[in-house]
Amino acid sequence: MVSMEDAKGKVYFETYGCQMNFSDTELVAGILAKDHYEVVQDINDADLIFINTCSIRDNAEQRVFSRLQHLRGLKRRKGKELVVGVMGCMAERLKKDLIEKEKLVDVVVGPDAYRDVPRLIQMAKLGEKGINTLLSLEETYEDLTPLRTEGVSAWLTVMRGCDNFCTFCVVPFTRGRERSRPVGSVVSETELMSREGRIREITLLGQNVNSYNDNGRQFADLLQAVAAVDRSIRIRFATSHPKDFSDDVLRAVRDNENICKYIHIPFQAGANRVLEAMNRTYTREEYLDLIARMKQMIPGVSVSTDVMVGFPGETDEDYEQTLDLMRQVRFDTAFMFKYSPREGTKAWKMGDTVPEEVKADRLQKLIDLQERISYENNQNRIGTTEFVLIEGEAPRGDGFLRGKTDSNIFCVFPGEPGMKPGDLVRVRITGATGHTLKAEVLKEEPVTT
Ligand code: SAH
Ligand code: SF4
Ligand code: F3S
Repeated sequence: MVSMEDAKGKVYFETYGCQMNFSDTELVAGILAKDHYEVVQDINDADLIFINTCSIRDNAEQRVFSRLQHLRGLKRRKGKELVVGVMGCMAERLKKDLIEKEKLVDVVVGPDAYRDVPRLIQMAKLGEKGINTLLSLEETYEDLTPLRTEGVSAWLTVMRGCDNFCTFCVVPFTRGRERSRPVGSVVSETELMSREGRIREITLLGQNVNSYNDNGRQFADLLQAVAAVDRSIRIRFATSHPKDFSDDVLRAVRDNENICKYIHIPFQAGANRVLEAMNRTYTREEYLDLIARMKQMIPGVSVSTDVMVGFPGETDEDYEQTLDLMRQVRFDTAFMFKYSPREGTKAWKMGDTVPEEVKADRLQKLIDLQERISYENNQNRIGTTEFVLIEGEAPRGDGFLRGKTDSNIFCVFPGEPGMKPGDLVRVRITGATGHTLKAEVLKEEPVTT
């Protein structure tokens, strides 16, 4: 750590987008801490502000633009004393256009150029604009340690980029080609966290973890290796793509007690015609088969998904098939979106054919259906037992604690003397809403095998 006196500057990070972006913010914080910058939590203390951005939908970008507008006042007051950097997917997508559009931006750095951040800051301090948006075929930052300062859960990026080119998606353009970080380096970072002792849960991250490949070592091998490092650390992973989900991964989840019985597996659309136009490379039937296999091999497995409405050409009948798939699978949670056209993708050329009102209506009905299913699934959990990793106090206070179940559902329960964040406790579910479980702590010692 750097003391206030010898720090080169104080940097404040603000992060938008997916878990990968949050993980990258910690990576860049690690790079800057090593280079003698101090990371601060109050934007007013900062002389460097980095915004880590997302391009996935137009509204994600608009949010960042309005944030940048907001920073203009601060920049005007502090002038050259303040360096504003934009990192992440918007930096990669817009490159120097970003600086032309938003004059206050001094540094633009894409997801594969984070090692270059200290140099880019130096350039900015000399009054030049610092831009690096080169993508790489190899960069996995395997030798760098992210700065993780709080909490009991950690993200650990195991692969970068994406080669799937779903026709609606910007990620292959903003994050480049798919590459896996070596098993050895993922294991040593896990060992480091285990030695330090604070982190009790690690989520392995990639846009499509199932195509992980380190010279023939597959994702199932990585999962086994990471889970074996410390059996008291629980392991999650995201995101799974249906196309190369092997039974070996299901077996690894089933056979390792510390791997959460929870799988996030987007389906995007229920109609084969739409899936094909999206280039998702699986059919509705194959998806349903995979879910059936998961439920059979891992009894009680919790499944969540991503889905969108209003892809170009989506008819009422296509949409009906999406609703129908959701009724069949009964996901515990779903992230639901309106299709947003992204320039440069294949779907961009198909136009934005579904009117906004129709999209809004389809989305609302989907949300209503999913809310009902989540509520019913949670009601069915009443009386069952679950393990919860304590994260802290519940928002309601009164001595209540909060955490997530193995199945990734938010859970609150009355705390007991001596309980603290990082403890894994066994609870019985006593009540449920659509998004939260209520529970009581079970008296006996946690069962371990
Ligand atoms: N790599 C992950 C998810 C990446 S983005 C995967 O393949 O599953 C997260 C989610 O955003 C996607 O699953 C998709 O549902 C949604 N999404 C991606 N592009 C979108 C677009 N152009 N419009 C609306 N939603 C989009
Ligand atoms: Fe985007 Fe598809 Fe890659 Fe996911 S798998 S990041 S949706 S292109
Ligand atoms: Fe957004 Fe980039 Fe993640 S577009 S969802 S921040 S990979």
